[in-house]
Amino acid sequence: MGLKIVLFLCFLGVSTSFAQQMFNVKDFGAKASPQNEDTQAFLDTWKAACSSGGEATFYVPEGTYYTGALSFIGPCKNLTRMTFTVKGTLKAFTDLGKFAKDGAWIMFGWVNDLTVNGGGVFDGQGTASWGKNKCGNQKYCNLLPTSLKFHASKNVVLQDVTSLNSKFFHIAVLQSTNFKVTGVTVTAPGDSPNTDGIHIERSVGVTISHTNIGTGDDCISIGEGNSHVSIDNVNCGPGHGISVGSLGKYPYEGDVDGVTVTSSTFTKTTNGIRIKSWQASPKKTLARNMTFDNLVMNNVQNPIIIDQEYCPSKRCGAQTPSLVQIKDVTFKNIRGTASSENAVTLRCSSGYPCQNLVLEDINFKYDGSATWNYVKGHELPAKAFCSSVKASYKGVQIPPPCQ
Ligand SMILES: *[C@@H]1O[C@H](CO)[C@@H](O)[C@H](O)[C@H]1NC(C)=O
Ligand SMILES: *[C@@H]1O[C@H](CO)[C@@H](O)[C@H](O)[C@H]1NC(C)=O
Repeated sequence: MGLKIVLFLCFLGVSTSFAQQMFNVKDFGAKASPQNEDTQAFLDTWKAACSSGGEATFYVPEGTYYTGALSFIGPCKNLTRMTFTVKGTLKAFTDLGKFAKDGAWIMFGWVNDLTVNGGGVFDGQGTASWGKNKCGNQKYCNLLPTSLKFHASKNVVLQDVTSLNSKFFHIAVLQSTNFKVTGVTVTAPGDSPNTDGIHIERSVGVTISHTNIGTGDDCISIGEGNSHVSIDNVNCGPGHGISVGSLGKYPYEGDVDGVTVTSSTFTKTTNGIRIKSWQASPKKTLARNMTFDNLVMNNVQNPIIIDQEYCPSKRCGAQTPSLVQIKDVTFKNIRGTASSENAVTLRCSSGYPCQNLVLEDINFKYDGSATWNYVKGHELPAKAFCSSVKASYKGVQIPPPCQ
């Protein structure tokens, strides 16, 4: 008898704490029709969900919804969890007038304990605006909207969704803490401008796993001020690889501390792992404690590259070295084919040479089949280039160390 009562009370306790409220965009006027703008319906749905209590689900059923800028702002004070479930496809308007300059298509800000999931698609419809991107070779310019921007949020899970053809970055994680990305697909053509897959800035504790990214810029870019970033089981390509940086562009930048990239594959990307910092950076910062382990590169132009003379506009005062100090970096068990002969490039700052750089079990073939003088059957040797660094080497080294 006593046991029965306890079980009954437990059941009551569980059922109340799991009380879920569902907020369906269709109940707030979303039409899922190309003739209809569903922006306001989505904002109204958010307002209702965010001001409810317990656990709320923002629900987007099957269908294709057209919207302009959507700002989903917290804090949602009485919620223990917000689940944002997209079964359908959201399409961003092609008219750039519907978005703020340097803004986002969809932004979540100050929302803690958020899960975005559901198997749906965020289609930025970027094809129409890529030609209007003027940021290619300019240091300062107005940016097109990022598809999914997360700002100042804690305990976020982004899971099982697709980002397609963003106008600018696909996903940006800014000033956030404990952020998990898993089972996400990112897709855009290899020649689409500035379509970084996942950009991380000023965040702590970001993990990205089991994610496929093919896009026109960095698959993942780890910007300034991040710590404890952990990436595993990512497929990258096409794209520019996984980058730490660019660092050293602005005076307010923070250090990068603690990055691991493991068990990932790069296919036909321009870079594999790249650490880059601007020449003539305005302030001394650190980029340290990074491990890159168990990575396979298939036909990658620059599989391992540190470039501290980054200056795409050629207007940053070439004589001034980068002030970003790179230290405690290990490249381990990295192998495959390079599509250019420089498989390993370690171009460190002449002002602050890289410290404690370790290369262990590096094995690259140079696949020269794309070069004019390629002779079938004659394997070309891969090469390593270094400046301003004394790396230490363990295990296999192909190409041989460059000092
Ligand atoms: C949270 O719930 C309390 C108690 O029910 C209520 O008074 C308050 O207005 C709610 N706050 C918000 C932001 O909804
Ligand atoms: C280095 O980074 C790892 C992974 O983020 C972290 O667990 C570790 O505490 C860091 N070590 C130091 C000495 O900062």
